[in-house]
Amino acid sequence: MVLISALITVYLATVAEAAVTVYGQIPFGQTATGAAAQPTRVVNAFNDTVLNPPPIPNPPLPTAFPLALQRDVASTPGLSTPHVGGGFFGFSIEMSVINQVLGKNSTHLYVPFLNLLSNLAERAGSVVIRLGGNTQEFATLVPELPDGRTFGKEDSGTTQTTRTPAVLYTVDMFYMMSNISAMLPVKWFLGIPFNDSTTWRLQIAENAQRILGDNLLGLQAGNEPDFYQQFGRRTEYSPQAYFTEIGQLIQTIDANPNIPVKNKLVGPSVATGPWTPEVVWETGFIDTYKDRLYALSVEHYPDNNCDAIFRPELGRNKDPQELFPGYLTHASAVDLVRPYLNSGNLAVAAQKPLIMFETNTASCGGFQGISDSYGAALWALDYGYQMAYGNFTHALLHVGGQNVFYNPFTAPPTNMSTFNQWTVGAIFYSTMILAETFGQSNTARIVDLNPNQGNPLTPAYGIYERDVLSKVALFNFVTDPSGNSDLKVAISIPNAGVPGSVRVKYLEAASVSQKFNITWAGQTFGNRFEVDGRLRGDVNVVEITCDRTANACVIPVKAPGFALVFMDSAAAASVGQASHTFATTAFTRLHNTVSVASQVLETSNGHNATNRKKYGSSSKGSVVGNDATGLTLSPVVAHGVAVLIAFAAAGVMLR
Ligand SMILES: *[C@@H]1O[C@H](CO)[C@@H](O)[C@H](O)[C@H]1NC(C)=O
Ligand SMILES: *[C@@H]1O[C@H](CO)[C@@H](O)[C@H](O)[C@H]1NC(C)=O
Ligand SMILES: *[C@@H]1O[C@H](CO)[C@@H](O)[C@H](O)[C@H]1NC(C)=O
Ligand SMILES: *[C@@H]1O[C@H](CO)[C@@H](O)[C@H](O)[C@H]1NC(C)=O
Ligand SMILES: *[C@@H]1O[C@H](CO)[C@@H](O)[C@H](O)[C@H]1NC(C)=O
Ligand SMILES: *[C@@H]1O[C@H](CO)[C@@H](O)[C@H](O)[C@H]1NC(C)=O
Ligand SMILES: *[C@@H]1O[C@H](CO)[C@@H](O)[C@H](O)[C@H]1NC(C)=O
Ligand SMILES: *[C@@H]1O[C@H](CO)[C@@H](O)[C@H](O)[C@H]1NC(C)=O
Repeated sequence: MVLISALITVYLATVAEAAVTVYGQIPFGQTATGAAAQPTRVVNAFNDTVLNPPPIPNPPLPTAFPLALQRDVASTPGLSTPHVGGGFFGFSIEMSVINQVLGKNSTHLYVPFLNLLSNLAERAGSVVIRLGGNTQEFATLVPELPDGRTFGKEDSGTTQTTRTPAVLYTVDMFYMMSNISAMLPVKWFLGIPFNDSTTWRLQIAENAQRILGDNLLGLQAGNEPDFYQQFGRRTEYSPQAYFTEIGQLIQTIDANPNIPVKNKLVGPSVATGPWTPEVVWETGFIDTYKDRLYALSVEHYPDNNCDAIFRPELGRNKDPQELFPGYLTHASAVDLVRPYLNSGNLAVAAQKPLIMFETNTASCGGFQGISDSYGAALWALDYGYQMAYGNFTHALLHVGGQNVFYNPFTAPPTNMSTFNQWTVGAIFYSTMILAETFGQSNTARIVDLNPNQGNPLTPAYGIYERDVLSKVALFNFVTDPSGNSDLKVAISIPNAGVPGSVRVKYLEAASVSQKFNITWAGQTFGNRFEVDGRLRGDVNVVEITCDRTANACVIPVKAPGFALVFMDSAAAASVGQASHTFATTAFTRLHNTVSVASQVLETSNGHNATNRKKYGSSSKGSVVGNDATGLTLSPVVAHGVAVLIAFAAAGVMLR
């Protein structure tokens, strides 16, 4: 990591040099400017690399195995702390790409993004999103930007190595967030700039609290402070120095009447590069600051693709084909979470959420062929469950622009930005499935079952809600079209306790390398440039009859495959496309006006969708869609906020 960060620093310096004279528009989706960014000219988000699936295991996988579960929490050791709603996966969106993802501004939000969030929110009750990343450190609120420019940047000054162009934004960013939260139960994190710990710039905290109110969950205090010294943000930096700065920040917040809520900080967000979380805990961080903290946080990626993206001339590109099998094993999830088990227990003891604030398949954009594959979706499911088992409360998948491979969702290139031409990455399905797994009861607890004699290709988890077994998650990481590696998992419960039947939803694709034609319970968002954020097709929930005499529910899982078994509830299994979707041009035209419309379009795509209106109303008068690319609020609503949101053209993609 140290070597990597040194390289990144070199890269930053190069970009900073090159970027100073680059103004205005950069290619859509690109988050770095200058000569050093040229190698990413290929639009990585739409890269067509398809890898070979790993070979079929030899000796063959044991395919028929028992899975003995206990019915009650009391007889199930090792369960996580109860999982509180809001899904598990949220998103971390780099500030420099906000207007590629959320919308152009507060009156022009992107419909597919809202529809995707709606599908998460309907399952989980709410969705958490962090706007931030490396670009938050120099982000600056400005009153307005000249010529109504949407993109703004400036030289952030200081030394050569830290001359990262700064993100400029206007107060409209907060209205954008607020308007999203007015339509969907979305909760937000933002970050306090940490580039200058003597003159704290707290406008982001002031405005966020004023405009977002309770929809602001927390404010990140420091982003990957363990890299501050390498990145030249501080000449010398230690966990103790970070601890001291947090104390100073708290004093400054206490003295600021425009930040009425004083206890929303999130830290330490170590990258687990130069520092472990433990070196921060050893400063007394938790005990000293827990009354001021909303949550504890860390950040981590399993690998990085920095050389290939930023220093291709070194010829040190990693080979995704070689790395692919490393993602397709339970060992990946276990190894990633192990360093945080102690932190998980400390967080439980301190009664604080523990959040993986930034993660994805690999930093510096992920790997072609891996990051957008069905295999990555299986990996993210296993990793998410494993984090939940390790007492993380949320994990935020990082979203980049079009020059990354790992996006859960990507807007189309500007020249074809109609509302239904987005692309969903396979890992988006994982976010939806975790949301569905943990549900909205705020009681879900999970245990890693390690079945099949701990075979790393066939992990399984048990999920308990309201103290009883509610779901079982089954994986098969193997790709074997012959059918010889398909699993038959025999679930049993003591005292002939299996129900008469169970319902199963599958995440399906023919191969771990496949990027498209992925279905969750028979429904799909569509392939590349086909997505409007709504699931298509009928929900297909498979009912499996159990053998009560033999005390077994035998669940088939294809190679590859993932199955979510609903043990106790038919209703829970029936959720499909969210009932709450957002208007398209066609819909608003039905209302025959540009000033009155509704954001709510009831659809019957999903099973029982119309029976499940959990939030929102179809009240007319606030929202109007008069543009195929976004949801546009009426001019009346927009009145008074003339400034355009603005973002740096040169957000640096480190992750
Ligand atoms: C995919 O990305 C890799 C790595 O940047 C590049 O070498 C390859 O040419 C790209 N392939 C396609 C089909 O775009
Ligand atoms: C998670 O926290 C619970 C306490 O609620 C604890 O019993 C369990 O061991 C923790 N999980 C892990 C994997 O450490
Ligand atoms: C911090 O960033 C702001 C905005 O880019 C800049 O004006 C300020 O000079 C920076 N401070 C330091 C100490 O780098
Ligand atoms: C939406 O944003 C506009 C600013 O463009 C603001 O006037 C309005 O109050 C916002 N609406 C909500 C519901 O937050
Ligand atoms: C958009 O631009 C790309 C690259 O220049 C081009 O291949 C594509 O055909 C264009 N699409 C439309 C709809 O103009
Ligand atoms: C998806 O599946 C359909 C039907 O099996 C097939 O015709 C189509 O080519 C597939 N699309 C992709 C992108 O793989
Ligand atoms: C759909 O809803 C109706 C009424 O609420 C219910 O009776 C039925 O069982 C539901 N169907 C499924 C598949 O859950
Ligand atoms: C948002 O962008 C749209 C489309 O470019 C524009 O019409 C509208 O005036 C902008 N709204 C604000 C509040 O700047």
